[in-house]
Amino acid sequence: MAGGHGKRLYIDSFDFLPGRKLAGKYELVSLIGAGWEGEVYEIRELSTGITRAAKFFFPQRNPKNRTAIWYAKKLHKLRHSPIVIQYQTQETITFRRQPVTFLVSEYVEGELLSDFLKRQPGKRLSVFEGMHLLHSLASGIESIHNLREYHGDLHTDNIIVRRYGLGFDLKLVDMFQWAAPKQENIQQDVFDLIRIFYDAIGGAKHYAKCSPEAKAICCGLKHNLILKKFRTAGRLRDYLETMLWG
Ligand SMILES: Nc1ncnc2c1ncn2[C@@H]1O[C@H](COP(=O)(O)OP(=O)(O)O)[C@@H](O)[C@H]1O
Ligand SMILES: [Mg+2]
Repeated sequence: MAGGHGKRLYIDSFDFLPGRKLAGKYELVSLIGAGWEGEVYEIRELSTGITRAAKFFFPQRNPKNRTAIWYAKKLHKLRHSPIVIQYQTQETITFRRQPVTFLVSEYVEGELLSDFLKRQPGKRLSVFEGMHLLHSLASGIESIHNLREYHGDLHTDNIIVRRYGLGFDLKLVDMFQWAAPKQENIQQDVFDLIRIFYDAIGGAKHYAKCSPEAKAICCGLKHNLILKKFRTAGRLRDYLETMLWG
């Protein structure tokens, strides 16, 4: 049915073609990624030639435009956090006679953390490299937790590595709204961070043989032990900066 009333059509891909004009302001360049909530395309602003990223929400994942509005507001609230992508604007187009919202943000050039890890020797990082990754992640997420907010969906397909040396320059995409921010959501972020570290250094297959320093961080992935040690991302960052090698 037209106009967004009545039954919503289930859409699992838009398959937009390059060159398509959007809302009279942008031109579609190419698909850069897809996930549970929608598809993300590189777009170009017609008047300036500036490249941006546009996330198109599948209507069934964005009832009453709530998901997009919530996401935009959260990105705005976190706009001073250097690890979070910068929000620009929202537009609505009509697709198969129903409204589809897309959210325009900064376009991040880089590589997904999942791809970065896959091309490491043995598909994993050394503990020392993993700690640098974890430190960059924890410092970035500390700035989110300091605003009493949480990310809600931390995994290696939602983290973009822009560059790396001793430290990692990272950007986070795709936050998830579970509920109003609570201590549990913040703690889940901390747990997810440690899970990323655990997987980055080789996961279950290599855990038994990894160093005591890495085990002291992973705590065998036991929620209660992790939460006792690191209540927020800031605590984890502090720990990494002051820990002693055995
Ligand atoms: N601002 C961006 N710049 C560059 N790539 C992006 C950007 N936002 C998302 N992506 C890419 O698109 C993919 C899907 O976006 P995401 O927001 O995670 O959608 P979903 O909620 O559907 O998982 C990401 O994994 C990433 O590869
Ligand atoms: Mg995602």
